[in-house]
Amino acid sequence: MKVLVTGGLGFIGSHTVVALQEKGYEVVIIDNLSNSDISVLDGITRITGVRPEFEKTDLRDKAKVIDFFNRYNDIEGIIHFAASKAVNESVHQPLLYYENNIGTLIYLLQQMQEKAVRNFIFSSSCTVYGEPDTLPITESAPVKPALSPYGNTKQIGEEIIRDTAKAYPKFKSIALRYFNPIGAHPSGHIGELPLGVPQNLVPFVTQTAAGIREVLSVFGDDYSTPDGTAIRDYIHVVDLAESHVIALERLFENRQKTNFEIFNIGTGRGSSVMEIIKTFEKVNTLKLNYKIVGRREGDVTAVWADTDLAEKELGWKARLTMEDALRDAWHWQQNISAK
Ligand code: WQD
Repeated sequence: MKVLVTGGLGFIGSHTVVALQEKGYEVVIIDNLSNSDISVLDGITRITGVRPEFEKTDLRDKAKVIDFFNRYNDIEGIIHFAASKAVNESVHQPLLYYENNIGTLIYLLQQMQEKAVRNFIFSSSCTVYGEPDTLPITESAPVKPALSPYGNTKQIGEEIIRDTAKAYPKFKSIALRYFNPIGAHPSGHIGELPLGVPQNLVPFVTQTAAGIREVLSVFGDDYSTPDGTAIRDYIHVVDLAESHVIALERLFENRQKTNFEIFNIGTGRGSSVMEIIKTFEKVNTLKLNYKIVGRREGDVTAVWADTDLAEKELGWKARLTMEDALRDAWHWQQNISAK
C-alpha cells in the first residue's frame, strides 16, 4: 500500500516515514524543504534500507498538487504534516500561516475527493486547548479561542476536516492532537533540525550542551507548579510516529467509530522545565548552563494529556520514557555537531 506523507522530511514526518516503512508500507514524501533538509532522506534510508520516493513540491501551488495526484493514482492514505509551526512567528506573520496551513489542507482534501483517496491523518496540536480548565486534558475538553494564528490554523483545520467528513461519508479522517514531541531516532540518523535559533525547549537544551548556544533561558520559575517552572507532556517522537501508523491502519481496516475522530497523543504525564534540565544532565552525565529569566508571552502554566481514549480505541500507549528521549536527543545532537 502506498502512503503519501506531506512534510515527510520534517521532525515528526521523517520518524513517521521510518515507522511506515518498517511496517512494509510504500512511502512517497512531498516536502518543499522550507523547514527541513534533503539529507533527511539519506537518514531515513540508512535506518530502513528503503529510499522513499520524494517530490520537492510546495503544496501552496494548487496546480502542482493537482499534477501530483494525476501522476500518483495509487495513494491509499495521506498523513499530512506539512505546515508552518512556529507559534511566535505566526503572531507576526499570520497570513503566511493561514495560506500555508489552511490553503494546502484544502487543496489536498479537494484532490482526495477528486481521486477517491479515502484515508487522512491530520497533524493537530494540544494548542487547540489553550489554557486548560482541568488536567489531564481529555478530547472532550473545550477548544478555547486560539492563543496564536498557528493554534488557530489547527482549530480551523479540524473544522474543515469535520465538515468534509460530513459532506463525504466515504472520506475517513483522524486528527492527532500532539503534546510536546521530543527526542530523536535511537539510531542517531534522524532527529530535530531546527533552522536558526530553536524556539522549543529540548533542541535549545541540546544546542546549549553542544556549546552552540551559550546558555539556556528558563522562561519563568514563578508558575503555580511544584518547582515554579511550567509543565508540559513530553512525548518521544518515535512513540508519536507509531501512533500515526496505528491511526492510519484503523482507517484502512474500517475500525473507526465515525469518519472523523480526534485523539490526544501524549504520555499522560506532566514534566516541568527543571525536570527536563535535571533529567538531561543525569542521563547524559553533564552540567547544563542555564539561567532563570521572565516568562515567555503566551505560555500556559501546565498542559498534559489524558490518553485513555487513544489507549482504548487505538490500542496505542507511549512506551518510551523522557529519559530515553533526552538520551536520544543528545546522541542526535552529537552526531550533527560532529558533521
Ligand atoms: C516548552 C516549555 C517554555 C524554550 C510548542 C507549541 C506546540 C507544539 C510544541 C507544534 C515552556 C519552556 C522553552 C526555552 C524555556 N508545537 N522553554 N526555554 O510552547 O509547550 O509548545 O511546541 O505543534 O503547539 O505551542 O513548547 O518547547 O517551546 O516550550 O524555558 O528556550 O519550555 O516556556 O514552558 P510549547 P516549547
